[in-house]
Amino acid sequence: MTSPRRDGSEAGILAVRDLRILFPSRDGRDTVKAIDGMDFAVQAGETFGVIGESGSGKTTLGRALVSLLRPTEGQILHDGADPEQLGTRAFRQHRRDYQIIFQDPNAALNPRMTIIDSVVEPLEILREGDANSRRRRGIAMLERVGLSAEAADRYPHQLSGGQKQRVNIARVLMLRPKVIVCDEVVAALDVSIRGDVLNLFADLQREFGLTYVFITHDISVVSHISDRIAVTYLGKLMELGPAEDVIERPLHPYTRALLSAEPIPLPSHLRVDRRIILEGEIPSPVAPPSGCRFRTRCPSVQPRCAKEMPAWREVRPCHRVACHFATADGPQPNNQPAQAAS
Ligand SMILES: Nc1ncnc2c1ncn2[C@@H]1O[C@H](COP(=O)(O)OP(=O)(O)OP(=O)(O)O)[C@@H](O)[C@H]1O
Ligand code: SF4
Ligand SMILES: [Mg+2]
Repeated sequence: MTSPRRDGSEAGILAVRDLRILFPSRDGRDTVKAIDGMDFAVQAGETFGVIGESGSGKTTLGRALVSLLRPTEGQILHDGADPEQLGTRAFRQHRRDYQIIFQDPNAALNPRMTIIDSVVEPLEILREGDANSRRRRGIAMLERVGLSAEAADRYPHQLSGGQKQRVNIARVLMLRPKVIVCDEVVAALDVSIRGDVLNLFADLQREFGLTYVFITHDISVVSHISDRIAVTYLGKLMELGPAEDVIERPLHPYTRALLSAEPIPLPSHLRVDRRIILEGEIPSPVAPPSGCRFRTRCPSVQPRCAKEMPAWREVRPCHRVACHFATADGPQPNNQPAQAAS
């Protein structure tokens, strides 16, 4: 069982503790710190949104959450237990509870297999039921995700992107998982059908009692679907809190900048007064900046930010932030002048 912790990772269907995931760089000479210290917990039945720019470690985190990647350091607990400690057989059985769907609708579909064969394949691997019962269950699931039975004997190239993503959802649901990590699942879809697919996710969550980790770089997607939102930057969490609170009253200068760049029509009282331009690229995760890793782009940077790494503090109820100067009123209550980052 887990013991109480002060960093917010104490309990949940997923608990991430002191997580670090390092890769050797492509040339083998350096270490990429893709996840460099994260602590949080996801509660059963919630939709936990993860947002951040490209390269901030979202996919790495998602893969680790479903045991496709091993932590280099730290732990990811599933329902309080460490899957790393399970034997091979128990691990295989356990993994069906923690599934992932990727951005590319083709990623999990074999172009030479019919749709129904792809949908029932996970059950076939687990030797669950006979061929007839698997097909019956597969067709019922295809219908549940909004596809007709006629789609069953087609091939992936005969389906649209949106239909293929529905097939991927059906394939994963065949395993009756507890948790689904959704990694940019609507990013490759036409804008006109994104809302329908997001609504399908919401309906399925109610029906199957699912927990979602919804990874995206698109604020309109997380704000639409999430109960809580975590903001990632260069392998660390910058902010984590109730979705409405994060969107309406962000605590971190990075979140504020992301929101200010968002074209979605937020109500006027929620709109930040000016667009904050984030200058430059996200720095390399091989050698992240000292102290606060957002400091090279932060409009509110102070000398202290280069020297000290901000603590992961709860400044509003259930709302944490990693910024020296954030208070319950927001990122910079005194409107302190920005200074050049070194
Ligand atoms: N297998 C790997 N080997 C080396 N570096 C990797 C590997 N996988 C990811 N990285 C690096 O780790 C960092 C985080 O990558 P990740 O794919 O998790 O980011 P992301 O937030 O999902 O980005 P995007 O929004 O573009 O999908 C990046 O710098 C990436 O290049
Ligand atoms: S700690 Fe400093 S650099 Fe980091 S977000 Fe806060 S003000 Fe900006
Ligand atoms: Mg990614």
